[in-house]
Amino acid sequence: MPDDNSARSCLAIVLAAGEGTRMKSSVPKVLHRIAGRSMLGHVMAAVADAGASHVAVVIGPGRDDVAGEAAAAIPGAETFVQRDRLGTAHAVLAARAALERGHDDVIVAFADTPLVTAATFARLRTALANGGAVVGLGFEAADPSGYGRMIVAGETLEGIVEDKDATEAQRRITLCNAGLLALSGRHALEILSRIGNANAQKEFYLTDAPAIARTMGLSSRVLTAPESEVQGVNDRVQLAAAEAAMQSRLRTAAMRAGVTMLDPSSVYLSHDTKIGRDVIVEPHVFFGTKVTVEDAVVIHACSHLEGARIGAGASVGPFARLRPGTDLGERVKVGNFVEIKATTLGSGAKVSHLTYLGDAAVGAGANIGAGTITCNYDGYAKNRTVIGEGAFIGSNSSLVAPVTVAAGGYVGSGTVVTKNVPSGALAVGRARQTNIDGWADAFHVRNRDRNKT
Ligand code: UD1
Ligand code: CA
Repeated sequence: MPDDNSARSCLAIVLAAGEGTRMKSSVPKVLHRIAGRSMLGHVMAAVADAGASHVAVVIGPGRDDVAGEAAAAIPGAETFVQRDRLGTAHAVLAARAALERGHDDVIVAFADTPLVTAATFARLRTALANGGAVVGLGFEAADPSGYGRMIVAGETLEGIVEDKDATEAQRRITLCNAGLLALSGRHALEILSRIGNANAQKEFYLTDAPAIARTMGLSSRVLTAPESEVQGVNDRVQLAAAEAAMQSRLRTAAMRAGVTMLDPSSVYLSHDTKIGRDVIVEPHVFFGTKVTVEDAVVIHACSHLEGARIGAGASVGPFARLRPGTDLGERVKVGNFVEIKATTLGSGAKVSHLTYLGDAAVGAGANIGAGTITCNYDGYAKNRTVIGEGAFIGSNSSLVAPVTVAAGGYVGSGTVVTKNVPSGALAVGRARQTNIDGWADAFHVRNRDRNKT
């Protein structure tokens, strides 16, 4: 991202060994999701976007699930196990082998602080490039209690004192430590190995790094960020607060890029949602992961989309559900109470009402009538339905897969299609209607007095 850092190599160490007991969860804290991606994934993406060429993740013992998520987020990421939880500096040193490889910049990030942006990590790196050996990140805390306090003189970070070790006067400082830190790679190992545990918690504090650097004749600096960006997640209430902040950020970016949202606060986005220009999103729309919306689409209210591509000029909903593998061509119309899964629709095709399409291919310009169902599952396997270009499927038809309606084929309403329909043919498969003259009148005469007493 920032050009001035691109010449320098960077190692990011992401601390993810937290216990997270306050989440009351069988899932490790850092795997809880925000905007469809784990907190760990968000932090790893941010440091990678800030130019980290190597990412090391420090995990607790036996946490194969966290290691798996780290590898999924960045295939080349390494994981290191911190056996005993002896403090943040001790956790960083679990990645000693990565530190020993030598990098220009070292960033330490916390996996439970998911809102820190790549731009902020890049600013920390720039401060290293400008001569800082240690760069801390501070914020003005609305309520400083519990946080480490930053002791600053001018641009110099003289030290960080943990809340439990602070004097009364130090506790009145409102500039608090966000926790994450950047270290010059040349001095990082030396600084970290000088950190001891003579403090209230008998822990090896990463926060001792600035003062130690200064005793080595090196410079320590401080940068600041808004509190909203450095909020940590320890319980589900804070998880919801972080989600709200992330949603607001994603919606703002989408609107700035040319998306109209009639009621932004009711729209849920995923971290990877891609929306083109002049798209209108009505209230209460949910975007799960892997959704791409091209230009000039309208997503009507109360639609649920996941793993879908929506071509330019299409119209979806209200109350539509697009499941993974849905691919809508240009100007496709998907109306209310329609569910689509693993199905492609060619340009201009219409599915306007009350339909299920699964494992199907629908050609351009085809019309799928109200209440059409692809019967794709026989209890064992999923089978495909192919509907050719310009075909017409009458309302309330069942297409029993595997089956093909060729281009221009026509299916009469209420048909159960079990055989392929040739091009240009009409398929009708329903009970023939009989009219019995006078039957209704006679029926009423026979029953007229029944409900009277
Ligand atoms: C830390 C900072 C504090 C700062 C606060 C911001 C230190 C000593 N203190 O305090 O100045 O204001 O964050 O929220 O750094 N971790 C490990 N292994 C350990 C200990 C911690 O991996 O042995 C990880 C935790 O999972 C967490 C992070 O490091 O992600 C911070 O640890 P935590 O114990 O929460 O530190 P705080 O007391 O909050
Ligand atoms: Ca914490």
